Amino acid sequence: MMRSLCRLSTIFVLHWHASRGQDFPSLSSWSYQYQQYWGNIVGATCSSYTSQSPIDIPKQLDKVEQKNLTTLGGGEEGARLGSLAWSLLNDAVNVTLHPGPVTWEVRMTNPAAILVQLEGVDYTLQSISFKSPSEHTVQGAHNAMEVQLYHTGKDFQGAERRLLVSVSLAQREDAWNKFLDPIFNAMPQDGAGTPSIMISNPWSDLAPPDRSFVTYDGSTTAPPCEAATWVVFMQPGFIGVRQLEQFRSGISGYQPSRLAPANSTRPLGLSDLWDSRWGYNSRNTQALNYRPLSLVQMANAPPPFVPKQNFEGSTSIWPILICIMLFALLVTGCLLAVLTRIKRHKEEYGHGCCDDSDEEEDVRSFQQLQSLQQGATLLSPLPDPYMHMAPARAGFGKHNQIYLA
Ligand SMILES: *[C@@H]1O[C@H](CO)[C@@H](O)[C@H](O)[C@H]1NC(C)=O
Ligand SMILES: *[C@@H]1O[C@H](CO)[C@@H](O)[C@H](O)[C@H]1NC(C)=O
Ligand SMILES: *[C@@H]1O[C@H](CO)[C@@H](O)[C@H](O)[C@H]1NC(C)=O
Repeated sequence: MMRSLCRLSTIFVLHWHASRGQDFPSLSSWSYQYQQYWGNIVGATCSSYTSQSPIDIPKQLDKVEQKNLTTLGGGEEGARLGSLAWSLLNDAVNVTLHPGPVTWEVRMTNPAAILVQLEGVDYTLQSISFKSPSEHTVQGAHNAMEVQLYHTGKDFQGAERRLLVSVSLAQREDAWNKFLDPIFNAMPQDGAGTPSIMISNPWSDLAPPDRSFVTYDGSTTAPPCEAATWVVFMQPGFIGVRQLEQFRSGISGYQPSRLAPANSTRPLGLSDLWDSRWGYNSRNTQALNYRPLSLVQMANAPPPFVPKQNFEGSTSIWPILICIMLFALLVTGCLLAVLTRIKRHKEEYGHGCCDDSDEEEDVRSFQQLQSLQQGATLLSPLPDPYMHMAPARAGFGKHNQIYLA
């Protein structure tokens, strides 16, 4: 009796400890499974009352600008698109690799090697990390991976600023991402050591050829969730199935696991290439809370090999949508009236000789109605497959870092 009481209280204490650990995680013990408690982390600002990331990128954006990509003049190697500019002075950079239970990290040995400018503030690239599935979504749809480039800088008043640049990668059986290849192959699978390697400049080799981007103010997507400005590229690159597995199995190999556990539900937007055996290291999308989102569209982008999603300014599309909806309603109404009349006619005049032809007519009307309804569904915000279409041609980027068989 005494012994079982003892055991019961031990179990109770253990359980209390465990749940306490989940409710009040620390900066070194948080997990993706219990992200609803990140707001309780002391020394972090992950509460949903602040401007958090990631977000779902909706179809309606506050500001849409058309800009041409131009090269930087005056002996500076690099390019500019609207308020964003980056240097391409170094083709290759030295980095150290840091495996871990929540992500893999690539740290620049010399952060000054890669300079980026956004809205007049200069930043330098510090590190690169990987999330799977993608943290940012477009109308609810994920990509298989999101690569995040973390930059820091100082604004005009000398205050510390952070810039995160997001490149999403779609999964393809026959793709092979040349930028990720040396990183993933050298990453110690046993978690021991921090090897030094040389990688190519992500601004020339990772970012997609169409540099159209959405920018907004948010946070880093893992505790301490510090304030950061985001640049989210809209065109995805590609990652091979085996490469994705290298990463996902790598971060799954730690105990206790800090990932959201695997389950058989495939995240929206992913194809059946998605392997549901591994856990997730993605934060859920956060409330936008009236933050403005702007899109800078690259007017001189190379012809898209994925159909472009047409992001419209919020003012221009509504009158057209409402007109189309009213028209569809009118036509459906007329059709229904005609159908009811035919039915009444049939009832009144019995089921004599004309049964067959009446049926035929009904079928035809029904088909007409159906095609109308199909037309109407085009108006509802279906998840546009901008990020998830197969490319129509092989090759990608300046150095063709992705080869499609
Ligand atoms: C982009 O460049 C083309 C050709 O030089 C020019 O016709 C076009 O107006 C430019 N578009 C923008 C948005 O600057
Ligand atoms: C990278 O490291 C190698 C060897 O330490 C050095 O020779 C090379 O100059 C470095 N490259 C850059 C871009 O810093
Ligand atoms: C599967 O895991 C994801 C990510 O953790 C979660 O959002 C989803 O609710 C889970 N689905 C089920 C059925 O448990």
